[in-house]
Amino acid sequence: MPEFQTSPGMRDILPPESARWRRFVEVFADVVERAGYGQVMPPLLEDLGVFQRIGDATDVVTKEMYDFVDKGGRHIALRPELTASVCRSYVQHRPQAPWKVWYSGSMFRYEKPQRGRYRQFDQVGIEVLGADDPNLDVEVIALGWEFYRALGLEQVHLLLNSLGEPDDRTRYVEALRVHFESHIDALSPESRTTLAKNPLRVLDSKREQDAPLIASAPRIAEFHSERAASHFAAVRAGLDAISIPYAIESKLVRGLDYYRHTTFEFQGGTLDSAQNALGGGGRYDGLVESLGGPSTPGVGFALGLDRTLIACDDEGVFGAPSQAVDVFVVDTAGGSAALSITTELRAHGIRVDRAFENRSMKSQMKAADRSGATIAVIVGSNELEAGTVVVRPLRVATHDHDDTAAGQSAVLRTELLDHLKKALQ
Ligand code: HAM
Repeated sequence: MPEFQTSPGMRDILPPESARWRRFVEVFADVVERAGYGQVMPPLLEDLGVFQRIGDATDVVTKEMYDFVDKGGRHIALRPELTASVCRSYVQHRPQAPWKVWYSGSMFRYEKPQRGRYRQFDQVGIEVLGADDPNLDVEVIALGWEFYRALGLEQVHLLLNSLGEPDDRTRYVEALRVHFESHIDALSPESRTTLAKNPLRVLDSKREQDAPLIASAPRIAEFHSERAASHFAAVRAGLDAISIPYAIESKLVRGLDYYRHTTFEFQGGTLDSAQNALGGGGRYDGLVESLGGPSTPGVGFALGLDRTLIACDDEGVFGAPSQAVDVFVVDTAGGSAALSITTELRAHGIRVDRAFENRSMKSQMKAADRSGATIAVIVGSNELEAGTVVVRPLRVATHDHDDTAAGQSAVLRTELLDHLKKALQ
């Protein structure tokens, strides 16, 4: 075993998987930029205080943060998510509202690694700051939905809830506390600990022992103010109007403390329940204020790239794009012809690779096959002298022929570019 390996929960993404990651972000950018979102690129590190605003009752803040004191004595953290960073950025730059932005990149959470759960993972997401309109919640959810469609995923389920206004939420949390405390003996020891910190999160417990108490717990809808109820009704009506299917999930509280009103989650139908959240989001009116800005509504989501690709594998969609080149140059006459040919062809947009180290013809032809090229351009000392090259089609059915020579032709070096352009059309 090598002396150094990636740390737990961190992975090298190698080609061709890395090309798939880049394509994922390109498809996302395409979907959201068509809806008027511009890319924001906050730093990987922020003052720890920025992320503490996510809420000090959340695991993300209390247990999972990668934080340290830098050489200047600042207490900083690697971002566990980007919503707080985007709000900090909004307060710092005061762009015109509504500010519609998208992002992509790595997040860091010190979690227990398992399939679909890593310590460094990637998200793509959008945030809209400065507009309090239920139609915007609908737009945000619809863009997430459209993105999954663009990937080809079909087994994605949208769960929807509303946590109401801050007062509704406070009254609800209190009612939950009373409910669970009055049956505390029936609660699992883990959930008792959660209850002391954040009664809402008890609803997230997947333990069998907690199920009956969770089922009999009060529902948030009973605590919705008139305004919260009408906002939620408008969101549902908007989703109905554009035929996006959803299920109301009154126990959907999500892991972050800043949510108000609409919350939602996209669940993957093929994944284990512990990691089936492909993405999620909601409204977080109040977060900008807590970061020192003016009272500003906000809504957005983040989708986990790592997990969504697992779902794509499960459904057999959105595979890694081909990285094959078009042409492979085999040069057994020293390599100078390969240098000039690859340079010329690349300058004209042809994808071309070559062999190095002056290997034998056989070994270079093997490399040509591995490259996925459809055409080999072959130069030996005879061709070099005659000012020609041999163009040989690869990957053709050659059962009936001597495959070393099937369909190959000699082409003048000066006519190679035109010849290949036609052949590759
Ligand atoms: P979140 O639910 O914490 O929300 O994360 C969003 C998605 O990131 C999850 O659904 C999951 O797919 C992925 N994810 C989270 N943790 C991990 C992990 N350890 N390994 C792999 N994937 C993971 C947020 O981050 C909010 N900022 C979303 C939001 C944006 N709300 C409003 N705007």
